[in-house]
Amino acid sequence: TAGESPKVFVGSIDNGTTSSRFLIFDRAGTPIASHQIEFEQIYPNPGWHEHNPDELVSSVEECIEKACKEFGSQGHSLSDIKVVGITNQRETTVVWDSETGEHLHNAIVWTDTRTASIVRELKARTGAGDLTELCGLPLSTYPSSTKLLWLLRNDDKVKKAYEQGRLAFGTVDAWLVYKLNGGPAKNVFVSDPTNASRTMWMNIHKLEYDEKLISFFELDTKKLHLPKIVPSSDPNAYGQLADGPLKGVKIGGVLGDQSAALVGQCGFSPGRAKNTYGTGCFLLYNVGEKPVISKHGLLATVAYDFRGQNIPPVYALEGSIAVAGSSIKFLMNNLGFFGDSAKVNEVASSVEDNGGCVFVTAFSGLFAPYWIDDAKGTIFGITAHTQKGHIARATLEATCFQTKAILEAMEKDSGHKLEQLAVDGGMSNSDLCMQTQADLIQIPVDRPSSEQISTPPPSPPFSYLCGGRTCLTNPPLRFRRRHLEEFRRAKGDQSRWEDVF
Ligand code: G3P
Repeated sequence: TAGESPKVFVGSIDNGTTSSRFLIFDRAGTPIASHQIEFEQIYPNPGWHEHNPDELVSSVEECIEKACKEFGSQGHSLSDIKVVGITNQRETTVVWDSETGEHLHNAIVWTDTRTASIVRELKARTGAGDLTELCGLPLSTYPSSTKLLWLLRNDDKVKKAYEQGRLAFGTVDAWLVYKLNGGPAKNVFVSDPTNASRTMWMNIHKLEYDEKLISFFELDTKKLHLPKIVPSSDPNAYGQLADGPLKGVKIGGVLGDQSAALVGQCGFSPGRAKNTYGTGCFLLYNVGEKPVISKHGLLATVAYDFRGQNIPPVYALEGSIAVAGSSIKFLMNNLGFFGDSAKVNEVASSVEDNGGCVFVTAFSGLFAPYWIDDAKGTIFGITAHTQKGHIARATLEATCFQTKAILEAMEKDSGHKLEQLAVDGGMSNSDLCMQTQADLIQIPVDRPSSEQISTPPPSPPFSYLCGGRTCLTNPPLRFRRRHLEEFRRAKGDQSRWEDVF
C-alpha cells in the first residue's frame, strides 16, 4: 500500500563444519524461514577429517529449497528475496578439475591434523620465520596451505591435474560460489579476504596473493588456479544462483563464518570482540584498519572488507580453539553420555564441580595460543569418584580455560583489557558453560536472544542485571555473579542467583 516500504528479504547460506543452513531474513533482520541439514563427517584415519564436496553443495541446495517452501507457505513471494549471502567454515580445502568442475578428492577439513609432519618439515625451511609477518598465521596444520601440499604429494589425480595445469584450489566459499553459479560454464572463481587470509598465501597487509608466500610452499601458479580475491561485499563479483527456487538471485557477498559472527554482533569498532562457541570456538577482536601481528600465539585475520561501500578493510586478532561443540558431540557420539547435545548442561549440572577432572580436548592438536600440532586429547584426575557429570563439566570447562588463555594473550597483544565478551554459537546455550566462562575471565558475558544468529542489539536497552550499566542483550543474560550481588545489595534484594536465571 502507499507509503509502505517495499518488501525486501535476504537469504543467507551458512555452511559450517557439521551442517548447512539457509535462512531468510526480513528487513529488520528477523529470521522468517530456515532449514538446516547435517552432512557426513568422514574420519578415514585418526586425526583425519573430510567432507564430500558434492554433499556440501547439495545440502546447501536442499536447504534453499526447503526454506523457500516454508517462506512461500507463509504467503511470501520468492521474488521479494533480493540477494543471497554466503558464510562458511574457513581453511577447509577443496580441489577440483578447472575444466570439468569435478572435485578430485574429499575436502580436507580445517580440523584435520594429517599434515603435522609436513608442518615440521616446513618449519625447518629457510624463510619459515618470515611467514607470520606477511600472512598473519603461524605455520600449523590449521591453514589450507599444508593441506594442499599433502594432496599434491599423496593423490595421483591431484598431482596429474596440477601437472596439466587443470588444478583448481578453493576454500569452501570459492567452491560454493563456483558450483552455485553453475560450475565451469560460468567459471565464477573468487574468494573474499576473510577466507583467502586463511590459506597462508595472501599478504594480510595488501589483501593480495604474495609471491614470497606462494614460493615458500613451492607452488607454481601457472599450474595451480587460485580464486581471485574480491571484496567481501560486492554486487558484481559473486555471480548469481544458477538453479533452484532462487534462480537468478545475486550472491551479494561472502564472509568466513567467524568474521560474519563479528559483523552480526555489530563488532564494527576497534576494541569490540565476540566469541563463537560452534564446532570450534573463535574469539575475534576488532583491531581497526591495520593488522596486528600477534606476539602471543594469536592470528591476524581480516574481519571484513567492505571496500565496495567505501569502508576500508578492517582487521581482527583471532584466538582459534579447534574443539568446542565437537567435544560435546564426542561425549554424545563416542562415549554415549546423552542422546542430545542440549543435555550436556543437565548432566554437567548433576554434580557440584569437576571432581578433580581436567579434560584437555586436544583432538586436533592444540590451537591458540599454544599451537601444538601433535597434542592429543587427555583426561586427568579420574578416580573411583568420577561420574559422567564430572567429565561433562570438565569438557565444558576446557573451552572456557582456553578462552581465558586467549583473552590473556589478546590483552598482551592489544594492550587493552576487554570489558565484556559477546558470545554466540550452540554451546553458549549452556548457562553453566557461560557462567563458568564469566567466573574464569571475570568480565560480563553477553549472549544474544538467538544464540545461533547474531543480531543487532534490540531496543530498549536493559540495565537491570549489570549494576546500572546498559546491557544490550535480549533477554538480558549476564553471567557475572559479582554484578548481580552488588545490584542485590544495593536494592536490599534477597533473591537467589538461581531465582533470577
Ligand atoms: O576456522 C574454522 C571455522 O571457520 C569453523 O567454524 O562454526 O564450523 O566451528 P564452525
